[in-house]
Amino acid sequence: MKLPSSAWQLSPEHAARDELAADVRKGLRATPKRLPSKYFYDARGSALFEQICEQPEYYLTRVELDILQQQAASMAQVIGPGALVVEYGSGSGIKTQLLLAALEAPVAYVPIEISSSALDTSLDELAARFPDIQMLPLCADFNTTVSLPRPRREPRSVLIFFPGSTLGNFESAEALRLLKVMHAEMGPQGAALVGIDLKKDPKVLEAAYNDAAGVTAEFTLNLLHRLNRELDMDFDVEQFQHRARYNVLAGRIETHIVSRADQQVHLDGATIEFAACEKMLVEYSCKYALPEFARMAAQAGLAVHQTWTDDEQRFAIQLLRRV
Ligand code: AVI
Repeated sequence: MKLPSSAWQLSPEHAARDELAADVRKGLRATPKRLPSKYFYDARGSALFEQICEQPEYYLTRVELDILQQQAASMAQVIGPGALVVEYGSGSGIKTQLLLAALEAPVAYVPIEISSSALDTSLDELAARFPDIQMLPLCADFNTTVSLPRPRREPRSVLIFFPGSTLGNFESAEALRLLKVMHAEMGPQGAALVGIDLKKDPKVLEAAYNDAAGVTAEFTLNLLHRLNRELDMDFDVEQFQHRARYNVLAGRIETHIVSRADQQVHLDGATIEFAACEKMLVEYSCKYALPEFARMAAQAGLAVHQTWTDDEQRFAIQLLRRV
């Protein structure tokens, strides 16, 4: 008997579990070991990230918000009326609100996010505050070029909003690829508004990723709790440590999980050995000098049209347009 094809389809939960397991298996077999930072953001990880943003040492969110608060009107003037605003990620609440409130008659807001639950929760507040802006959430991976939904009113341009220095979490080749995706999606009249963290005293950078309250350490190690829960693994989390150091040559914070002892963990029947002091890479947070960033943007066919920064040049929001 032939079964209907749907009987063979995995549920989204199964597919997500399989993808997580495949990524973890691959990362733990690699030398040195590594795990993708995108897996930090389960419900607990997302809540801990919100707390990181409030730590005194983590200046990024505060400074970017200050820039937006002070410069949103100037940004809106350069962007012009009637934009279709596309945000990579589920919408960062207050930053999105500041931008939408400043823009002249934006036609629609399109958050692109792979997790449908994150999309749902972020939109209610925005929809209530901006009843004239059509909300068009798109459940997709923003790393790939997607066809944007058609809003009721014809947009004059597309604006891609990518705040938070999230671009810095991608290795340079991937960041370049993402800038090329933006180039394709913005169309000839469009632009991208991208938040990037700037190079500065390594002590300030390292403090931001090693807050005194230990929230970042908890955020990093939560990844192991997630793998224990979702993949039935057996990390003894107490036997691992968070470590974030600035690599001056590479211009990035490199976050590792370090094993405190010789130990083993198991995944689907396979044994993975950790030596004492062995490091597993879990995140890059790249920091840029403005000319360096402009060179990377140029490789994607984009030019920096305008830069807004704070008095101490800690963080920058850049408007990119096609060359
Ligand atoms: C989301 N991303 C930009 C943060 C960063 O600064 O790299 C994630 C983070 N990791 C540790 N602290 C914050």
